[in-house]
Amino acid sequence: MEGVSREIRLVARPTGFPDEELFEVAESPIPDPSDGQVLIRNAYFSVDPYMRPRMNDVRSYVAPFTLGETMTGGAVGRVVASRHEKLAEGDWVLHGLGWREWALSDGAGVRKVDPALAPVSTALGVLGMPGFTAYYGLFHIGQPESGQTVFVSGAAGAVGSAAGQMAKIAGCRVIGSAGSPEKIAWLRELGFDEAFDYRETRVRSALAELAPDGIDVY
Ligand SMILES: NC(=O)c1ccc[n+]([C@@H]2O[C@H](COP(=O)([O-])OP(=O)(O)OC[C@H]3O[C@@H](n4cnc5c(N)ncnc54)[C@H](OP(=O)(O)O)[C@@H]3O)[C@@H](O)[C@H]2O)c1
Repeated sequence: MEGVSREIRLVARPTGFPDEELFEVAESPIPDPSDGQVLIRNAYFSVDPYMRPRMNDVRSYVAPFTLGETMTGGAVGRVVASRHEKLAEGDWVLHGLGWREWALSDGAGVRKVDPALAPVSTALGVLGMPGFTAYYGLFHIGQPESGQTVFVSGAAGAVGSAAGQMAKIAGCRVIGSAGSPEKIAWLRELGFDEAFDYRETRVRSALAELAPDGIDVY
């Protein structure tokens, strides 16, 4: 296909807070799919916490990013050209090829996304890894019962905001903590019963006041 694809590469390891100097925008010709491949036009890509340790050259539960290579990670896009027997032109897909405008894939790790079910971006959010993390952590590990009190820290993040709303659906009383007044206001909009700013109030004293009988699930 004619045209240029831009992609974001990691070119240096962070020594403190990551900044844009760590990345470069590289351009390459938009590739054509060979037999068994699809060409995907990306619409969304995800920036996730697990990527930060991967920027360091240390052992983690996932291998470090390689310097000079495009940042891999969750992305959602639409198949523009296909020579793959199970993926058709027009399909919305979730894949792991990351921070690039166009992606060439052999279908490994590619999952179809149903745009009729929800906005396709949710495949990277509540219907994707953050949502599944929240669901698993809450229901398989926390196992709350209706009427119990659930405390969620990091409550305004992708995982915490989903976990708190799921706990509400399960009939729990939900307390959330987050780090700014705007986040606290948003947690109330989401339906959290109580929310406090841990930068303003110490967690111990906030919980003593908001959950005098204790917390069932954290
Ligand atoms: N996203 C996933 O799919 C996934 C999967 C498995 C595990 N996890 C883990 O679950 C946790 C939450 O993930 P998430 O996707 O919800 O993250 P997120 O959306 O980035 O939210 C994380 C929140 O943590 C708080 N925080 C406190 N100290 C921080 C610091 N030094 N740097 C950045 N944020 C800080 C921030 O909220 P305040 O300003 O309110 O403090 C931030 O909004 C992370 O530990 C992540 O590794 C996530």
